Amino acid sequence: MSAIEIRPVSGGVGVELGNVDIGQGLSDAEFKAIQQAFIDNGLVFLHGQSLSPEQHIEFAERFGEINVNRFFPKVDGYEKIAAVVKEKDQKVNIGGGWHTDHSYDQIPAMGSILLARETPPVGGDTLFACMYKAYESLSDGLKKTLEGMNAVHSSRHVFGDQAEYQKSLDDRLSNTELATQDAVHPVVITHPESGRKALYVNPGFTIHFEGWSAAESKPLLDYLYHHATLMEHTTRFKWAEGSIAIWDNRCTWHYALNDYHGARREMHRITVEGSPLN
Ligand code: SIN
Repeated sequence: MSAIEIRPVSGGVGVELGNVDIGQGLSDAEFKAIQQAFIDNGLVFLHGQSLSPEQHIEFAERFGEINVNRFFPKVDGYEKIAAVVKEKDQKVNIGGGWHTDHSYDQIPAMGSILLARETPPVGGDTLFACMYKAYESLSDGLKKTLEGMNAVHSSRHVFGDQAEYQKSLDDRLSNTELATQDAVHPVVITHPESGRKALYVNPGFTIHFEGWSAAESKPLLDYLYHHATLMEHTTRFKWAEGSIAIWDNRCTWHYALNDYHGARREMHRITVEGSPLN
């Protein structure tokens, strides 16, 4: 294989890799080039990849240990692959709002490798936003305030037994009784690999700042969410069968658009373990 090509897909976030065929096997040098593109950009896209579930798992395991999501349905016969599916008759999708995965865990997952298996004829794109840019473009005053703060993250209002979202998915999620623990993380983290600072709150799972009530937290969180999702910080990815997105939960958010009612979309997601955040 000749050198891997790396092309930015927008001014916001994300690069597309060319000249890569994961299914043909990657040398250590080729894998390292992909991993470095991931660390440098936080979001990597590939198209036209033909991967068996075993190859998908093998590729993910080169990034690190696999984190089996306790709530999502699994691909038949593959406990390590979450099935992110919306059936033709389903109204609600998985991930249809801005979030970063697993921020409700004490040690949030590093990221995911999402592979498109079936895409709707139109729609079903995924939006991504860059949390490095979100942080870097704040005023010095607000940066300084946020750097002393922590925020509380939870899964109970999303995946818990009583959560409206969970109920709207008609029993497709599992272990909803396990959505009980909360996690506290700094509002601004230093990315463990890149060393860059990133904003680390998100609309999906952050419930309030530590030591502040939810009502007190809301105006500032709303401001940060508006700021983080300015168009300049985002990109939009159009999927086809065999497309892959590899995102870093520590420095990006994502949002699966739900604009393809009546069509089926099936994605296979493998999530890789992360490390403690500071
Ligand atoms: C997710 O939030 O993991 C799903 C993303 C997508 O289906 O595009």
